Amino acid sequence: MEKIVIQGGIPLQGQVHISGSKNAALSIMAACLLAEGTSTIKNVPEVKDSKTMCEMLEILGTKAQVKDNVFTLDPSGFTGRPAPYELVKTMRASIYVLVPLLVRFGQAQVALPGGCAIGLRPIDQHLKGLEALGAKVYLEHGYIRAEAPNGLTGNEIYLDVASVGATVNILLAAVLAQGKTIIAHAACEPEIVNLADCLTAMGAKIKGAGSSTIKIEGVQQMKAVKFSVIPDRIEAGTLALASAMTRGEIKMTGFPLAHLTALERKLHEVGVAVISEGEEQVRIQSPTEQIKPVDVVTLPYPGFPTDLQAQWMALMCLAQGRSVVTETVWENRFMHVAELNRMGADIRIEGPNALVRGGNPMSGAQVMASDLRASAALILAGLVAEGETTVTRIYHLDRGYEHLEKKLAQLGARIKRVKG
Ligand code: UD1
Repeated sequence: MEKIVIQGGIPLQGQVHISGSKNAALSIMAACLLAEGTSTIKNVPEVKDSKTMCEMLEILGTKAQVKDNVFTLDPSGFTGRPAPYELVKTMRASIYVLVPLLVRFGQAQVALPGGCAIGLRPIDQHLKGLEALGAKVYLEHGYIRAEAPNGLTGNEIYLDVASVGATVNILLAAVLAQGKTIIAHAACEPEIVNLADCLTAMGAKIKGAGSSTIKIEGVQQMKAVKFSVIPDRIEAGTLALASAMTRGEIKMTGFPLAHLTALERKLHEVGVAVISEGEEQVRIQSPTEQIKPVDVVTLPYPGFPTDLQAQWMALMCLAQGRSVVTETVWENRFMHVAELNRMGADIRIEGPNALVRGGNPMSGAQVMASDLRASAALILAGLVAEGETTVTRIYHLDRGYEHLEKKLAQLGARIKRVKG
């Protein structure tokens, strides 16, 4: 098994390019199943989750690959085979193949994803949406079985929670449904806008993506597409926080600041300047004074992203004073706390709040990653800890960051991946 070893204490300096968004890529890769011809998607990050999605698409009979950050899908051999538990359990976004199967074959079978380390992760809103569009949905033997032999029909759907995944699945279903669909209380994430833009390029009629009301007019068929994935705002946020923590100064290219407004504002409160230099370039300038303690609450977009909560907490460990980090999206997303405490942090959990007493010196230690973003937080802590930090179980990191350690090394960090 591989691990990451870091010698802390080097301020990050230099320029780094932001990779394509993993979360946008996963839904767009599944969307390509809705057309009959070969689609080509650029800027797809070469991370484990993209590979898992390709494996899933191959199990369904298609030819799928990601090479040099370009995803190609030839769906000519697409069959209505069930999506097996072995793959769905490793990546919940596998559930995005449910709708293309249903639309193309009138029936679909996908393993129920179940919970994962960060929370229960129900899919009731996905299923409620599909039922509203006329699908019959059964949960049996650990699988979701959906049927719509005569196709789907547009409807008005109100989501009880603004779920990203449910919004993706309902969008995929509504573009080929008969008539009009309205999704109220839809997720507004930039990744939803990217998916809607891709579907529009495939022939769909969608209005309002990026707002909480999305209107879709069903069309007869979708065509293959050439499209590009947006840059990854979570990778950009992670690197911005790494720069702030090490008191460095970095420039991120290929990234529009507009997708990170919440983090930009919170960094401003901390004393870190986030400067937009042209359309796709952002500079992170560290404070000359001490880092200020600042509370955050995670919320759906445009609120502070839950996927940056762990990394923000690592920053707050360095602030002079107390802060509160409140997690409202996932009920069990504080597993990094115990590991940060092993590195010298002083964090206490009370319900959805993590109470951080910042300012203790961080010291290098052997720590264990528990999920994707927790891995990043531990690496960030390692960059400022005195001595050596070893992060194990980095397969979590590899699910969603494209060569994070190489990018940090390029910015001057003493970090390497080692075997054993
Ligand atoms: C996506 C992201 C993930 C991010 C999350 C929230 C992908 C592949 N993953 O996950 O990185 O952390 O958005 O920004 O894009 N919920 C329900 N019922 C449902 C669906 C969700 O109650 O049917 C709840 C969940 O338990 C959670 C909240 O809604 O508390 C948000 O979940 P959701 O937005 O669906 O997250 P994902 O799409 O799984």
